[in-house]
Amino acid sequence: MRSAIVMAAGKGTRMMSNKTKTMHQLFDKPMIGHVYAHLKKANIDRIVMVVGHGAEQIQEYLKDTVEYAIQQPQLGTGHAVMQAQQLKNESGKTLIFNGDCPLVQPETIERLFEESGNAQFAVLTTVLDDPARYGRIVRNADGSVQKIVEFKDCDEEEKKIREINVGIYCVDNELLWKYLPELSDDNAAKEYYVTDLVEIFLKHGHTVTAVVGSDPKEMIGINDRKMLAEATKYLQSRVNTYWMEHGVTLLDPATTFISEDTVIGTDTVIYPGVVMQGANTIGEECTLYPGCFFENVTIGNGTTIISSRITDSIVGNHTTVGPNSHLRNHSELADDVRIGNFVELKNTKLGYNTKCAHLTYLGDSDVGAKVNFGCGVVTVNYDGKHKFRTEIEDGAFIGSNVNLIAPVHVGKNALLAAGSTINQDVEDGDMAIARPRQMVKKGYGDQYKKK
Ligand code: UD1
Ligand code: CA
Repeated sequence: MRSAIVMAAGKGTRMMSNKTKTMHQLFDKPMIGHVYAHLKKANIDRIVMVVGHGAEQIQEYLKDTVEYAIQQPQLGTGHAVMQAQQLKNESGKTLIFNGDCPLVQPETIERLFEESGNAQFAVLTTVLDDPARYGRIVRNADGSVQKIVEFKDCDEEEKKIREINVGIYCVDNELLWKYLPELSDDNAAKEYYVTDLVEIFLKHGHTVTAVVGSDPKEMIGINDRKMLAEATKYLQSRVNTYWMEHGVTLLDPATTFISEDTVIGTDTVIYPGVVMQGANTIGEECTLYPGCFFENVTIGNGTTIISSRITDSIVGNHTTVGPNSHLRNHSELADDVRIGNFVELKNTKLGYNTKCAHLTYLGDSDVGAKVNFGCGVVTVNYDGKHKFRTEIEDGAFIGSNVNLIAPVHVGKNALLAAGSTINQDVEDGDMAIARPRQMVKKGYGDQYKKK
């Protein structure tokens, strides 16, 4: 049985924010979302989030994917652990995890479980050039761990120690609950420190071990927005490096943001300023021009997207979108489609080789193959209360500046004359024209000019 107690009840004063610290956006999701994802990947059976300051924000985000314990007031990290009462009678090992350590990877967590071996208490550490204000790992002459000293409580010699406490521990659960009552708040901060458990475990004759994390950058605890930016850079660079090593060209990795849940095919080329959030699948040999924003998007092979926003939608193979198009709310493009500039699609499906090249809004529409839209077509899908669908069959030709008042059905190969307002169905092969006839007044132009 693997359990985890995540300490996320602190205010995070140094963020200077109304938001609780672990809900701050880091790269593609809130900090606590990274912690959750990493714990899940490390096969933790039970996760208890200790929440206090801004508890509702965290609960609203993580919903019932985890268990909660409330810490009110917040009297320190040791006191936070004491609140996870639901784990009191569990056996096995429990991970204690700082909620502000979102970069620590599942492999590192796995290593901590493995290398803790027979030790009853294992602490994850790392060695920093500048140990800053982290807690210091004090070792005995033989190298064994003696204690963790908080920066505030360090003497001058201890301040020089460069091995620091990451804030992640793997502990025998039964012993944890046995010894938690021995913690006291007799220290510089007048808080119950989880770190004091080291000395308590040693005093009772148990084994304490330190597992040294290899990549110091992964171990940072985020206390302010400068560290948040540093952490974003770290994740960005990890993901970008991975894709460059897997056949993807990034013209400017510094301005490219690819979420951890995105998969990209070989020989795709990504221009500067492309942002991908959520879960995306991008095919092979695609070109993504500057300024694309994607969230939960699937794109086929050989497709070109030019400076467009696409969310919750699917784009086929060999399709072109943009510049400046907006596809959203479960839109789906088949293969060889062409979407041009300033086109918005909402909950709309376009079939094979359909073209919609200029200044158009298609909402709640089902469009077949090889349909051609002129410039400035609008589906009128909303009467102020209800949404209605527009259906257009294969091969139809929709002239420029046509309004389609839904619900309406346009048959195969039907032709809609430019400027028409269509509010009745048009059958296969028919033409509809719905606009006033033109009137010509002889010589009126010249007369007007002379006035
Ligand atoms: C803590 C460690 C320090 C370590 C550093 C690593 C202690 C006493 N110190 O210091 O040794 O080097 O992390 O980043 O543990 N929290 C609660 N309830 C509380 C207090 C804190 O849930 O009453 C949570 C915070 O929300 C945060 C985490 O615990 O997510 C760590 O607290 P923080 O105040 O940031 O500890 P540090 O001073 O960074
Ligand atoms: Ca911290």
